[in-house]
Amino acid sequence: MSARGLDVPAAPRGPLVVAIDGPSGVGKSTTARGLARRLGIPYLDTGAMYRALALLVLRRGLDPGDREAVEALAASAPLGMRQRDDGQLEVLLDGEPVAGRIRAPEVSEATSRIAVYPRVRARMVALQREIAGREGGVLEGRDIGSQVLPGARFKFFLDAPLAVRVARRRLELAARGGAVDEAELAREIEERDRRDRARADSPLVCTPGHIRIDTGPLDAEGVIARMLAFIRAGGRGAPEGA
Ligand code: DC
Repeated sequence: MSARGLDVPAAPRGPLVVAIDGPSGVGKSTTARGLARRLGIPYLDTGAMYRALALLVLRRGLDPGDREAVEALAASAPLGMRQRDDGQLEVLLDGEPVAGRIRAPEVSEATSRIAVYPRVRARMVALQREIAGREGGVLEGRDIGSQVLPGARFKFFLDAPLAVRVARRRLELAARGGAVDEAELAREIEERDRRDRARADSPLVCTPGHIRIDTGPLDAEGVIARMLAFIRAGGRGAPEGA
């Protein structure tokens, strides 16, 4: 077991992998990053991979609604990964880090549209499995516990009421200097969630193997503490309040 500084029971096989799924704005990225740091394993934001492809779609002037063109691009897209000093796996497009460009509203909208295409998902899932199989990690997304790594030993599903998620996202966007219309933001988040839950291929779902945590009443440290308690116990028992 490569987890550093923590008394994590030995895994039956392979590196330590933690799956975190849930809808938008539920706190997945913050908690996944913090958990990975505490466990001493890499952190992969799988949404950033879909976002990087959507950015490429827009840069090439393609219509995100053109399934054939987007799927053809997905097969050959020059996507890469690089591990930063803090353990986060950073997505590269043509060798360039794109983190600063993939959060724009038009990229978010395009991402949610292209994420429904099966050949887009197949390319991403193959990359994600390769990364997890090599060194393990905390992988965060929508289909990690259900499709990407169904055999992961630890799977969490984070959830919170829409109003809480909208308020969090608004603060995040405001911190980056954007003026935000809360009603508009709520509509956008609801629509993206609807698409994520309704798509035929790999919909967002809390499976029986996921431990569900309501992040509404908790801050990030509180969520991380519950996950760590569960992991230290070797996956036995539900975290308090889950
Ligand atoms: O987590 P995020 O907001 O960065 O995700 C962006 C979009 O990508 C969102 O519409 C859901 C989709 N996504 C997905 O379908 N599967 C994943 N594993 C991660 C993200």
